[in-house]
Amino acid sequence: MKPIIAPSILSADLANLERDVRLCEEAGADVIHVDVMDGSFVPNLTFGPGVVAACRRVTTLPIDVHLMMVNPEKHLEAFAKAGADVLTVHYETCPHIHRVLQTICELGVKPGITFNPGTPITPLKYLAGVFDQVLIMSVNPGFGGQKFIEACEQKLRDTAALLDEIGSEAIIQVDGGVDADNIARLFAAGARNFVAGTAIFGHPGGISAGVASLREALG
Ligand code: DX5
Ligand code: ZN
Repeated sequence: MKPIIAPSILSADLANLERDVRLCEEAGADVIHVDVMDGSFVPNLTFGPGVVAACRRVTTLPIDVHLMMVNPEKHLEAFAKAGADVLTVHYETCPHIHRVLQTICELGVKPGITFNPGTPITPLKYLAGVFDQVLIMSVNPGFGGQKFIEACEQKLRDTAALLDEIGSEAIIQVDGGVDADNIARLFAAGARNFVAGTAIFGHPGGISAGVASLREALG
């Protein structure tokens, strides 16, 4: 499948969010990635359903919501109503992960599951059929602009092998420190959906050059 480029609006110019989301779409990005941080599971605070609804009004691209929060089950309905197309929850925050993923599905949204860099992916084995996307975090979540943790490349390969073993066709997403220098080897390791903040919004040539540089690096 064609690689998916998912700009993370965490690094957008928030005073010009509409402009930046439109520029991402015009640049050929595939998905808008929204990082929800609660100041508890992760140290930073960011967006709620209102920002998802605002993005929904200005783009036709799918909106991929990454919930870095405790008790995400309390807010799933609000994010679904706001227009999220994918809702990804952290395994670390969900003791009842199977139920949470099923609830997302019942809300008519694609369920995603994610693991911090230090968390094993073995639970996937017991969750076949209840997730559409697996996000492998390649930084400790909370901030943009961090360095890619190299061990995560092997984790992508392990994830691809495990999905194969359980017969899952879920998409593997990678998030954190993705740039034009490492994206091709992350594709080779099995990632198909690439979240990028700094590499797109921090590109000296602007958003469109940032998206293009990732596409070119993918070949
Ligand atoms: C990290 C977030 C990421 C972040 C990536 O906690 O989940 O989506 O925006 O930013 P870069 O691409 O700058 O590492
Ligand atoms: Zn993210």
